[in-house]
Amino acid sequence: MQHLLSIESLSSADLREILTLAGEMKATRGRHAEHPLRHQCWALLFSKSSTRTRVSFEVGIRELGGDVLFLSANDIQLGRGEPIQDTARVLGRMCHGAVIRTFAQSEVDDFARHSGIPTINALTDEEHPCQILADLFTIQERLGSFAGKVVTFIGDGACNVPLSWIWAAAKLDFTLRIAAPEQFQPAPAFLHKVRASSNARVEVTNDVEKAATGADVLYTDVWVSMGKEDEAAYRLAQLGRYQIDSALVAKAKPGALVMHCLPAYRGKEITEEVLEAHAATIFEQAENRLHAQKAVLSLVARRGSSH
Ligand code: CP
Ligand code: NVA
Repeated sequence: MQHLLSIESLSSADLREILTLAGEMKATRGRHAEHPLRHQCWALLFSKSSTRTRVSFEVGIRELGGDVLFLSANDIQLGRGEPIQDTARVLGRMCHGAVIRTFAQSEVDDFARHSGIPTINALTDEEHPCQILADLFTIQERLGSFAGKVVTFIGDGACNVPLSWIWAAAKLDFTLRIAAPEQFQPAPAFLHKVRASSNARVEVTNDVEKAATGADVLYTDVWVSMGKEDEAAYRLAQLGRYQIDSALVAKAKPGALVMHCLPAYRGKEITEEVLEAHAATIFEQAENRLHAQKAVLSLVARRGSSH
């Protein structure tokens, strides 16, 4: 694995290797035998806000022996219009890897192509692969395997998190249901592309109760993703029926997991009561960002730059 640009670009074997290594990283935290990022300096180049992703990468890179530079896009020339290709060619000559959070997926792809250093997608408008790796790891820890499981995503079904989930369903053996109003469902052309290239079991509906019934996992994300703030009022009005509350949880399988990538907006996509009842899962899911990303860092470092 040279980069982590998307879940789409990973094979099933890559996914399984990352999940296994994440388990090893978690079990040996604080006493790792290897420090694959020793003598390396990684750039974190962020054009959007972040708590979990930033902290888990900063801590994870250091725990693997590396050093880290946090670069807010607004503080470097990128924010004044320097092209991503030129930023990539500069950072590629100084840093050993890059973690990028931005808007268009093409910016992460272009950075990887022009920098020549391992590049990790820390969220774009199209994918959030690091999040989904931690989610899969959490589900595997708690439920054992994916086979036959039903994961139901509820809310804005067209944003980065559900789109990455759809690609995960194309690679692993579980059923994904997406419950969203029509205007927030994944585009038919996108679903066609996934189905044409895999045996993904993905069901899309506007019937949230039906989608929740018998599910092993209920999952949600914010209704207003970063960059969509202008649409906030419209989104809150349209998505109001797609809240995870205790009545919805009661429709899922007994003992079902409730997951949230965070940050959570209580009273919107999830009630306070459900969030707090499932906080042990949700905050372990957040912690697992660290372990899953250390697995990714260690795998891409093996193929990393020579300087
Ligand atoms: N879930 C997630 O990516 O959180 P941050 O935006 O805080 O990094
Ligand atoms: N869909 C959300 C994820 C936040 C981690 C966003 O893009 O803002």
